[in-house]
Amino acid sequence: MMRAARCTDYGPPDGLTVVDLDDPAPGPGEVLVRVHAAAVNYPDVLLVANRYQVPAPLPFTPGSEFAGVVAALGPGVSGPAVGTPVAGAVLTGAFAEQVVVPAAGLRPVPEGLDMVHAAAFHVTYATAYHALTTVGQGTAGEWAVVLGAAGGVGSAAVDVATRLGLRVVAAASGPERLTVARKLGAEGGVDYVREDLKTRIRELTGGEGAHLVVDPVGGDHAEAALRALRRGGRFVTVGYADGKIPRIPLNLVLLKNAVVRGFEIRMLRRYAPDAVAAGDRALARLVREGMRPLVSRVHPLAEVASALTDVAQRRTTGKVVVDLTA
Ligand SMILES: NC(=O)c1ccc[n+]([C@@H]2O[C@H](COP(=O)([O-])OP(=O)(O)OC[C@H]3O[C@@H](n4cnc5c(N)ncnc54)[C@H](OP(=O)(O)O)[C@@H]3O)[C@@H](O)[C@H]2O)c1
Repeated sequence: MMRAARCTDYGPPDGLTVVDLDDPAPGPGEVLVRVHAAAVNYPDVLLVANRYQVPAPLPFTPGSEFAGVVAALGPGVSGPAVGTPVAGAVLTGAFAEQVVVPAAGLRPVPEGLDMVHAAAFHVTYATAYHALTTVGQGTAGEWAVVLGAAGGVGSAAVDVATRLGLRVVAAASGPERLTVARKLGAEGGVDYVREDLKTRIRELTGGEGAHLVVDPVGGDHAEAALRALRRGGRFVTVGYADGKIPRIPLNLVLLKNAVVRGFEIRMLRRYAPDAVAAGDRALARLVREGMRPLVSRVHPLAEVASALTDVAQRRTTGKVVVDLTA
């Protein structure tokens, strides 16, 4: 038997329970992973509420990003060998002591990361990296604005942008969250609850506006940030943690000769696998140089409901991780 989080009714995450389930067995092409740590991502909250673009049929075990050790190989699978440390992402199933995943979806744990940080790394850092570079075309010396800069994707974007030599303006709700972003390298901060986002971005970028905006938040902040782009600037829409999907007047895009691009990590894997592989190599190099995801809290599985509730209620910074070995 194994312990696993369980969602039996859609709704807020405080309805999650922890139950005993039969040990899963890997089928053809699959691998059984003994999960050591699983990170909370905002889509986990959306899946539990049945507000994600892909529904998860009830009952299900939430959890989408994990690190652990290969425990068994399914028929036709030749590796990675039992005992190999691996990390991966799934739609559901990772808040459990064991998870079955397609062998092709596993990746090595970047050298230098422990299991907690490995679980918290790939989704947000790959998203940040490609939003900034592959899609956002950011280059050293440019001004990048990161919305939700203390959150999972946001903190990773501040971290990666700074390490790639971009100059970062962080936008977040409140001074404590801006302090988190400053510690990761942001030069300027805008409290978008109390300050006018467009005006402050313009001021902080010397009057010219930003070259690039990375937006995992959406809502009303998106248009304000777009208005603070300089001519020819790029706006990358990554997510809608605000809950409201922005509707942008296209004339703003025309008047600035701006570029608005969408980014979705699974889609990029499908149409640009070479860019994804190059990104993985670049991220591994940054990890070797000391880059680590910001993990603000680690919970035992028994606290999985409160871990997701904290993320849903905007109370966390960086990443929250569930430790399946605790
Ligand atoms: N496109 C992709 O491939 C991709 C990949 C990963 C994630 N995402 C999406 O990116 C978004 C952010 O994910 P994440 O993991 O960074 O989430 P997160 O850690 O919860 O951070 C989201 C941030 O959004 C801000 N926010 C503003 N309004 C909010 C609200 N009403 N509720 C919650 N947060 C709010 C919060 O910062 P402040 O309080 O400072 O405003 C929070 O730090 C999600 O929509 C997720 O689905 C997309």
